[in-house]
Amino acid sequence: MLKKLLDRFGDKKASEYKNKESEYEAHQHLRTAKGNQSVPNPIRPVFPATNLYEKGYNTPKASPAHTPKPEDIGTPGFEHPPTTGVIYVMDRAVAKGWKYGDKSWGNFGQGAPEVGHIPDAPERPTRLVLQPDEFEYAPVAGLKTLREAVANLYNVRYREGKESKYTWENVCIVPGGRAGLTRMAASIGDANVGFFLPEYTAYEALLTIFKRFVPIPTPLDKDTNYHITPRRLYKEIHDRGLGVVVASNPSNPTGQLIEGDELKEWVDIARTTKTTMVLDEFYSSYIYTHPDEPGKSISSAEYIDDVNVDPILILDGMTKNFRMPGWRVCWIIGPKEYISSMASSGSFLEGGANHPLQQAAIPLLEPSRAHQDAVALQKHFGMKRQYVLDRLAALNMPVVVPPKATFYIWLDLSHLPEPYSNGLTFFEACLDEKMICVPGIFFDINPGKRRDLAASPYQGFVRLSFGPPMDELEKGLDGLERLLKKIGYNH
Ligand SMILES: Cc1ncc(COP(=O)(O)O)c(C=O)c1O
Repeated sequence: MLKKLLDRFGDKKASEYKNKESEYEAHQHLRTAKGNQSVPNPIRPVFPATNLYEKGYNTPKASPAHTPKPEDIGTPGFEHPPTTGVIYVMDRAVAKGWKYGDKSWGNFGQGAPEVGHIPDAPERPTRLVLQPDEFEYAPVAGLKTLREAVANLYNVRYREGKESKYTWENVCIVPGGRAGLTRMAASIGDANVGFFLPEYTAYEALLTIFKRFVPIPTPLDKDTNYHITPRRLYKEIHDRGLGVVVASNPSNPTGQLIEGDELKEWVDIARTTKTTMVLDEFYSSYIYTHPDEPGKSISSAEYIDDVNVDPILILDGMTKNFRMPGWRVCWIIGPKEYISSMASSGSFLEGGANHPLQQAAIPLLEPSRAHQDAVALQKHFGMKRQYVLDRLAALNMPVVVPPKATFYIWLDLSHLPEPYSNGLTFFEACLDEKMICVPGIFFDINPGKRRDLAASPYQGFVRLSFGPPMDELEKGLDGLERLLKKIGYNH
């Protein structure tokens, strides 16, 4: 049935995939992964093995007595959330022999930057001295001193010469980026929430579990370089009645970037249409479009008129831009009124970021140190970006839309022979050569699984991350080279 519809109205490529899906082993793995089968909660018969019958309960008699197995009981009332792309990818890699720290693999699936020393970066702390009060809870919205340090960094970076400045009351500290997104999602009321595809994988579950709002996707495609023009944004808001827009900028996974006058227009549109804009600026320092301005970072904070009026919520933190994913210290910046609801939702969701590392983060946000960090980061990641792009070009795998920012490459597989032009199959074949990547369909955020996997416009893509250190990138690309030779791809 779906096949017929796809043939008639849909994408030709999607229809072909649908035809072949049952032949592709890679697709069968995905369909049967935990959380991906849409099994309705079955009505379970009462388990007959307990002795309640003898005590006069209205239950079946256990005969013969046996002990329950996991499948007899299930998880009553609980559902397995959809498996996020990264978990699925790592589960499959483990199944094919990958182990944490195994140097013979190249993990291009890694959504985190390398964390060791990089040339010219300031020294990183190596020890913590704990004060007695750091054993206490920190405030749910974060330490005031850290909130001040974040506000100051944004004022120095983006609000020089502007009248309206951020204060600590515009900042809420959160225990990681996903916790920040969760706090925001928990505070959204009855609204249409727009987002653009492809988008960061964790948005899927986030936009699914909170049932008050209606998530509305807008797919982007390669013909427009995955670019969201202000006019398109305005049209989506207007035509679909959006109350909130959520977007990663720079974009994970495409590495595209809205900046300058266009970003200013985004902010103007949010203000004019009274639309809350959640801008996930997690990669704001991984910028490659200004080689003449080393260390330049990009944020919508630069284009806000009044920090307590414009309905822009910015998410960022130590995870990527400071290469400290393990610290779980991040922040949301926005008008005071929103920040107060972020603190309230944190008080029942997770209770806030850990106290000692909030304290330890303060000196790292000192503007000149943060600038030095950003300069080193851009140089090092710019070099890795070029290395990966050059090697892909030499393998006749040119990147049509090279990243302007982030540490991701959105790789189009359409010129590869079948079945490797399919991201899932390509991913499994890469694992056999000890190279990990992420199939494009995982960025096809599909809340409530309303659309069929085969109809995804991102079947023919994978995301490659150049987050890991150089030696690992070399290993991974060697693996890719072996694979392309094996399948007879002409290069
Ligand atoms: C766009 C984006 N936002 C948020 C996050 C989540 O960050 P954290 O690991 O701090 O939860 C990520 C991580 O990959 C990301 O890519």
